[in-house]
Amino acid sequence: AVTERESLYIINEFAKEHFMHNMHEIPEGQNIGLSYFEERGFRADIIKKFQLGYCLNSGDDFTKAALKKGYKLEYLESVGLTRTKEERSFDFFRGRVMFPIHSISGRVLGFGGRTLITDNKKVAKYFNSPESIIYNKSEILYGLYFAKGDIVKYDNCFLCEGYTDVISMHQAGVANSVASSGTSLTKEQIRLIKRYTQNITILYDGDAAGIKASFRGIDLILEEGMNVKVVLFPDGDDPDSYSKKVSTTELMDFIKANTQDFVSFKTSLLLAEGNNDPLQKAQIIRDVVQSISLIPDQITRSVFTTEIARVFGFDESIVINELNKLRKNQI
Ligand code: CTP
Ligand code: MN
Ligand code: MN
Ligand code: MN
Ligand code: MN
Repeated sequence: AVTERESLYIINEFAKEHFMHNMHEIPEGQNIGLSYFEERGFRADIIKKFQLGYCLNSGDDFTKAALKKGYKLEYLESVGLTRTKEERSFDFFRGRVMFPIHSISGRVLGFGGRTLITDNKKVAKYFNSPESIIYNKSEILYGLYFAKGDIVKYDNCFLCEGYTDVISMHQAGVANSVASSGTSLTKEQIRLIKRYTQNITILYDGDAAGIKASFRGIDLILEEGMNVKVVLFPDGDDPDSYSKKVSTTELMDFIKANTQDFVSFKTSLLLAEGNNDPLQKAQIIRDVVQSISLIPDQITRSVFTTEIARVFGFDESIVINELNKLRKNQI
């Protein structure tokens, strides 16, 4: 007999195929979904590779097809593809372009669905599948299935915010890219990357939210004993939008030229905020030392205490002193 888990995988696979079929073979999907991706500059081969699709706007097109195929309504609901209200069932993602989310072995665990309505702030830009017995969001990284080989090959993982960032990086030939889509980054997601490399480069959006999330990501990555670097994109850009403005070589050059270690990333941002006020400076050093204190390995910690002492022109012993205070409090 087919287990419940297996049934949910089968339903998601069916849904993925159905949404792809809609987008490539049905006029509504071609005119609305496919042209949306084309207008954003996604190439046909990349659209196919990431198995992007479209959920028709009709209300219950997918649900009807799935029920006809014999899938249980209860299961369609538990993977979040169908919602039932007052005995009427409808497609949760109707009218959205669909991004399947794959497991490390390529099975579809859930979907992100993007609205095509751009002028209504009341509509959530992305809907995401709920957690289910096959989908634990904190343990999944979008794109890892496609990226894992290149993460090993280049011994580095580019960590982005969103679905489209991963896809555009991939299209630009930078395939060692993943995203923590739909959730804020977790320890489990970092440990997934650690199976393939010790090195993570954060490529979050160049806005206040992206910077804030980078600070949090840095600390989580350091705590796992991994190396973290950061690329700050121009204000308002993310890897997807930036990659669409420049050539592939320019993107690579930008990433190379703007990769910073976490000490200089945090220091330069905090300094820019604090206008050189000496008390602010002390606070900045404490903030950066706080991140350094999370590094498990003592030798690695000392590399960064040397750097921060040099950047601020302080005696290293002062920095080490501060560090030791923080570490004592952590234990
Ligand atoms: N996200 C989400 N729900 C939202 C908004 C965002 O789950 N309402 C997640 C999505 O995984 C999204 C990521 O957070 O890809 C980053 O959000 P954002 O930067 O706002 O979107 P982009 O990925 O840049 O999407 P797009 O380029 O399509 O506008
Ligand atoms: Mn298939
Ligand atoms: Mn953003
Ligand atoms: Mn973005
Ligand atoms: Mn974007």
